[in-house]
Amino acid sequence: MKETCSDCFKPSFSLAGRIALVTGSGAGLGLVVAKAYAASGASVILNGRNLLRLQSLQAELAEQGLAVQYWHQDLAALDELPESFQALQDRVGTPDILFNNVGQRLRSRLQDANWSDIEHLLQVDLLAPLRLSQLVAQAMLAKADSSGRIITVTSIAGELARYGDAIYPVAKQGLSAMVRALAVEFGPKGITSNGIAPGTFATESNAELAKDPIKGPLVVGRNPLGRWAQPNEIAGAAVFLASPSASYVNGHILVVDGGFSITF
Ligand SMILES: NC(=O)c1ccc[n+]([C@@H]2O[C@H](COP(=O)([O-])OP(=O)(O)OC[C@H]3O[C@@H](n4cnc5c(N)ncnc54)[C@H](OP(=O)(O)O)[C@@H]3O)[C@@H](O)[C@H]2O)c1
Repeated sequence: MKETCSDCFKPSFSLAGRIALVTGSGAGLGLVVAKAYAASGASVILNGRNLLRLQSLQAELAEQGLAVQYWHQDLAALDELPESFQALQDRVGTPDILFNNVGQRLRSRLQDANWSDIEHLLQVDLLAPLRLSQLVAQAMLAKADSSGRIITVTSIAGELARYGDAIYPVAKQGLSAMVRALAVEFGPKGITSNGIAPGTFATESNAELAKDPIKGPLVVGRNPLGRWAQPNEIAGAAVFLASPSASYVNGHILVVDGGFSITF
């Protein structure tokens, strides 16, 4: 009898048995990704600075049968990260997936920006993901099976420049370089590094821009899809890059912007 294999060509998006750390996941895109990872079978670690929010999310998701823990840590406190991450590992194990999502927004010309705000932005948006990627990759390498995934949220500002927005793109373009540097360094050890470059998502951090009577319509008008993205539209890309289906994708930055950045 001829053998049949109905599932041989069906890609797997299962994250069963994987531990996924999603930074900055108390709200916004990070929370969507954390929920999507948990729904795909991963044991998820939320992260944020607001302990009450993390605790209530953990309870809410547990009620839905989703496996979620949390790491209450301000990632801007770079000096605390090695010890705090070690304590997290001792408590919940080594992450198989690191989703570097944390990021804050500063829209300013360089000539107007306050230096301490610039330093803080670079600390949260660039140095924290770099430091955490180093710590997590070292931990992944120490495991017998180092099939880890590092996924970093950049932005369409990770490739482009715009007048009046001089600081955030510096951090995000640094992250684009980091995605590729990690892919080259850790690929030979079986750990992949990829990025997601979101366009304009209707999250809290964009609420003011969306309401702006001039800039709001400009954003929508330039987008071939003619609308903002809903936060849950990040989930497919995030699950794909973490899943067995992306086993040969390395050093890629997947743009999720409705086509915004291909227009001029
Ligand atoms: N929204 C967009 O359209 C868009 C577009 C391009 C790129 N992105 C990128 O996507 C990522 C997420 O954006 P978002 O709009 O979802 O952000 P968001 O709504 O501002 O959420 C960020 C989360 O990060 C946490 N957070 C902030 N600073 C932190 C810190 N120092 N340590 C730990 N947690 C911290 C916050 O929780 P706590 O207050 O509890 O700490 C918050 O829940 C960012 O990297 C952003 O640059 C977003």
